[in-house]
Formats: sequence, structure tokens, C-alpha cells
Amino acid sequence: MSCRRGALIVLEGVDKAGKTTQCKKLVQALKESGRQAEMMRFPDRTTKIGQLISAYLEKKSNLEDHTVHLLFSANRWELVPLMKQKLEQGISLVVDRYAFSGVAFTSAKPGFSLDWCMNPDVGLPKPDLVLFLQLHPTEAAQRGEFGTERYEVGDFQKIVMQKFELLMKDPSLNWQVIDAAKSIEDLHAEIKTHSETAITVAENQPIGELWK
Ligand SMILES: Nc1ncnc2c1ncn2[C@@H]1O[C@H](COP(=O)(O)OP(=O)(O)O)[C@@H](O)[C@H]1O
Ligand SMILES: [Mg+2]
Repeated sequence: MSCRRGALIVLEGVDKAGKTTQCKKLVQALKESGRQAEMMRFPDRTTKIGQLISAYLEKKSNLEDHTVHLLFSANRWELVPLMKQKLEQGISLVVDRYAFSGVAFTSAKPGFSLDWCMNPDVGLPKPDLVLFLQLHPTEAAQRGEFGTERYEVGDFQKIVMQKFELLMKDPSLNWQVIDAAKSIEDLHAEIKTHSETAITVAENQPIGELWK
């Protein structure tokens, strides 16, 4: 039998839902249980495209809205060869934000349809599991001040949440909605259980294509 592939596990949710906290804990727990796992995050600010995105998010530069959307997508595509290589080596990838954030954030801007926003990401490696950390924007705001980056504005986050809800209606994806108001440890236990199941299922399946 050929080598079992790793699973692509994505964590999504509004700002401060706990994605980064849970990604780190999940990778650590998977490794401790003897599995190969690595964390990735989007945008990946280390590449040339990622640096353009980073300057935009930090409000050090302005970019036209369609352009920035395509840069976010290109930033995912440029990492696809590496992602596939790792998955095929049996490494599970735990990803902090993916195409869903890309689509939710741009489609929250006036004049952008969900469909237009989804198109550039069609065909990306399809996640075996998308964990959506659901947190009411008012609760998110209680987790400390929103930062100073672009998009970290309460009203905009509410529209983003509505766009995520539209994306979650897609039955071709394995969405699991998690109540992010729970404690860090309770959330972790839930996320770990879902992830272990997804890893077992993914082992014997080819890598899928997103939204195709
Ligand atoms: N379950 C939780 N309950 C309370 N506070 C949390 C929880 N998870 C994370 N936090 C805190 O909320 C803040 C945002 O967490 P973070 O993981 O950075 O969120 P995200 O990556 O989704 O923006 C951090 O200060 C973190 O310590
Ligand atoms: Mg984060």
C-alpha cells in the first residue's frame, strides 16, 4: 500500500475567535500522539506576495480591492506545491485561515459577489475538515481591543460573519461549527477529536479540489 497521506485541517472564524491558539495546541497534541503535523497560516507574510499583503494590512500601502483579493489567493496558490508535498509525505497540515477567510473578507466589501470572490480559489487543495470557531462579534470584542490593522473594525466583522454563514451552507465540505465561547481546553478537546477522525478518513482518499 502507498504511504498514507496527511489531512488538510483548516481553522476559520472571525478575528479573536481563538484560531491561532487552537492551531498551535492541535499541532502539539497531534505530534505528542505520534502523528506528523505542521502549522501553516494564511496570509503567509514571508513570501514576496505575502509582504505586499502585510504592508496593505498594516495600512502602510493602499491596494485596489480586486487586486488585493487576487494577491491573497495567489499567496495560497504559491504554497500549493509545498502543501501537496507535505500531505503526500503523510504530514497533516493545520492551517490558520484559508480561502474561506479570503472570500468572506472581500465579499463583505460593497460591490463584490460571493461567486466572483470564490473563483480564484477554485481548485485549491480541498480541506478534509473546516473547523469554524463561532464567536459573537461582541464577545470577540471583549477579548481585548481590536488591533490597528485594516479590517479589525467591529461592524465590518459582523458582515464577514454573515458571509462565512453563506459559505458554511456548502455540503460538499466537512464543516464543523465549534462554540468558541468555551474554555481553551474544552475547545481543544473538541477540535482534537474532530481532527483525529478527519485524519483517519483522509488517509485512504486522494486530495480533493476546493469548490470543484
Ligand atoms: N477559548 C478562549 N477563551 C477566552 N479567551 C481566549 C480563548 N481562546 C483564545 N483566547 C484569547 O483571545 C485572544 C485571541 O486569540 P487568538 O488565538 O489570537 O484568536 P484568532 O487567531 O482567532 O484571532 C488571545 O488573547 C487569546 O489568549
Ligand atoms: Mg490569529
